[in-house]
Amino acid sequence: MSGMENSTAGKVITCKAAVAWGPGEPLVMEEILVDPPQKMEVRIKVLFTSICHTDLSAWKGENESQRAYPRIFGHEASGIVESVGEGVRDMKEGDHVIPIFNGECGECLYCKREGTNMCRDYGVNPMKKVMVSDGESRFRTKETRQPIFHFLNTSTFTEFTVVESSCVVKVDPTFPLQKMTLLSCGVSTGVGAAWNTADVKAGSSVAVFGLGAVGLAVAAGARARGASKIIGVDINPAKFAKARALGITECVNPDELETAAHEEITRLTGGGVDYSFECAGSLTALREAFLSTQLGWGLTVLLGVHPGPNMLPLHPMELFAGKQITGSVFGGFKGKTQIPRFAEECMHGAVNLDEFITHELPFEKINEAFQLLKEGKSLRCLMHL
Ligand code: APR
Ligand code: ZN
Ligand code: ZN
Repeated sequence: MSGMENSTAGKVITCKAAVAWGPGEPLVMEEILVDPPQKMEVRIKVLFTSICHTDLSAWKGENESQRAYPRIFGHEASGIVESVGEGVRDMKEGDHVIPIFNGECGECLYCKREGTNMCRDYGVNPMKKVMVSDGESRFRTKETRQPIFHFLNTSTFTEFTVVESSCVVKVDPTFPLQKMTLLSCGVSTGVGAAWNTADVKAGSSVAVFGLGAVGLAVAAGARARGASKIIGVDINPAKFAKARALGITECVNPDELETAAHEEITRLTGGGVDYSFECAGSLTALREAFLSTQLGWGLTVLLGVHPGPNMLPLHPMELFAGKQITGSVFGGFKGKTQIPRFAEECMHGAVNLDEFITHELPFEKINEAFQLLKEGKSLRCLMHL
């Protein structure tokens, strides 16, 4: 592209998007207007996007305080930079990128500190629905020019999106973008929880509650680290075949047990696992995960999103037995600085990304893709725009 301005830079783009108009209502494929990127923003031509359970929860409107319509959901995607706003130095037109819902500005208290991937202005925030710089949306309906809200710093169910540059990661253009899509949320979240948050050690034992893409990414991460026992727990036994392919060594279905899942896991491990991961978004699963770990050093990592008002299902005294519980967002990765290297490791075989793409559909069939996830049939359905 030799530095020449492209034909759309600086102009409003008309394109197709899947717009949410109300909780649980089918998304409407319609023409929208996408404004040019403002200062420190990037406009991306989205080429692939998939659906994560967080999109499903938001689409259902599970958390009332987060309801805002019309809105463009989607946060797992990959694409090409169409144009950049003033001040963006680390990206240019034509770069291959993935949006990240948990950004990294590089400047704030958290970004400057090691060991956390929080970011003051661009960290994950389900309440955020407009751009930080001017409090406006970059999307409007074509018919009435009504603003359409953004979602999770990203909004990827559209042919073009505008994202703050803190929430965009450049990837090596020789890496297939289809695979890179998974690093935008699910695989990074799961593998990173095993590597960064728990720091799973070789020879250890692990229990994963919820065998969707996030849980199976935890399993793949634990296997890459040499965990010797990786127990998968799910109430949907249809998940077990794929789970075994991704590193789960034993499968447990709580609905088929006489006892509680943690008792079975304690029996299978002779005392409990070293690490357990909650990837189901269920408080029952969280309590079982906590009870499944070893006294003295067991660590439980929470990855599931829990939209309800309920608190942790633990008695404070249960923490005296030396067990720990913590949460993990985006796998603890500082997105902009650490994901490019993680992408390289994946391309060198640390994680088999293809295993996570169970379905592919054209973008127009997005409502079908939602059904596949809702019914537990897909890990990730890759949509082609
Ligand atoms: N015990 C065990 N497994 C359960 C339970 C439970 N009580 N409840 C649900 N599950 C299983 C489902 O059967 C499903 O296989 O959890 C799995 C969740 O997988 P997906 O719906 O594919 O979700 P995924 O995209 O993997 O995300 C998992 O992480 O990022 C968060 O919001 C996301 O909470 C969600 C979680
Ligand atoms: Zn996600
Ligand atoms: Zn920051």
